[in-house]
Amino acid sequence: MTNSLKHLPGLVDLKSLTQNEIELILSTAKKMKTFLRNNQEHKKLDILKGKSLATLFYEASTRTRTSFELAGKYLGADVVNISKATSSITKGENLRDTLHVLERMHFDGIILRSPYSGASVYAQNILTRAKIINAGDGQYQHPSQGLLNLFTLQEKKGRLAGLKVAIIGDVLHSRVVRSDIDGMSKMGIEVHLIGAKTFLPRENFAPNVHLHESLDVLKEIAFDAIEMLRIQSEREKGEPLFPNNREYARLYGLTEETFKHIKTPKDGVVILHPGPKNLGVEISPKVAYGADSLSVIDEQVENGISVRMAILALFFANKDNFDF
Ligand code: CP
Repeated sequence: MTNSLKHLPGLVDLKSLTQNEIELILSTAKKMKTFLRNNQEHKKLDILKGKSLATLFYEASTRTRTSFELAGKYLGADVVNISKATSSITKGENLRDTLHVLERMHFDGIILRSPYSGASVYAQNILTRAKIINAGDGQYQHPSQGLLNLFTLQEKKGRLAGLKVAIIGDVLHSRVVRSDIDGMSKMGIEVHLIGAKTFLPRENFAPNVHLHESLDVLKEIAFDAIEMLRIQSEREKGEPLFPNNREYARLYGLTEETFKHIKTPKDGVVILHPGPKNLGVEISPKVAYGADSLSVIDEQVENGISVRMAILALFFANKDNFDF
């Protein structure tokens, strides 16, 4: 069994990782989480001392950019943040030139977010030495989010294989769902995608992936977890794909009322959301803020740091053993 992922060219999606490699990231993230919890006064390791990382974000982000920056810094790397608004991207410089400039500056890794699907694959193909870590590209993939979702599920449920997960919302535009499907399939999870017909893509999914157009399936199957997705209006082209937010919330929103009618497993259902949330649309504030302690949305945010520390350590560290 491998103890490192430094032989890989980067992390652009979850279909490129094996089950063993995903397990390695999850077990390393557990060590990182324990380290952070036990070392609140000095959250610093030297695993990436001497390494330099750039976060290159062509799209807005709170969780992903900040947690990659913190993860790199907690591991001892030098981290530089580059945003669209403050870089030569605004003067028309293209992605290829920007990547070449960063590689000439000896960055070891570039953590890329882009509105264009597949931008991370393009970037990985043109870089010769630096590695790309995909922080979300268009509708293609968001692998670190997929991994932190798996980590949170494993933490809450004690296992992954055999779980049944419902993912509800704007599946069509979601890069998170594509990473979820790849990661969850590899770990033996049954995935159910639920949404309005206009939000369900006509892709050929794996046999463990099932599609439903109504929340009624929640009354028939006891899901271990329900993951809600935001409507990504910024990616809609042309006419809106549903009448209005009120109608959407009535048909597809997760509210306290929903839980009165659904089937739940003995150990309860957990509620995930990658964020940012449209409160009152796909999820009610009461469900999101966890008055009934079903929501693990805050844990997802916290776990994002540990999982991204694991990714950076495994892809960029010179050593293979992270026992500390
Ligand atoms: N989940 C997620 O990618 O959030 P941000 O856009 O805030 O990074």
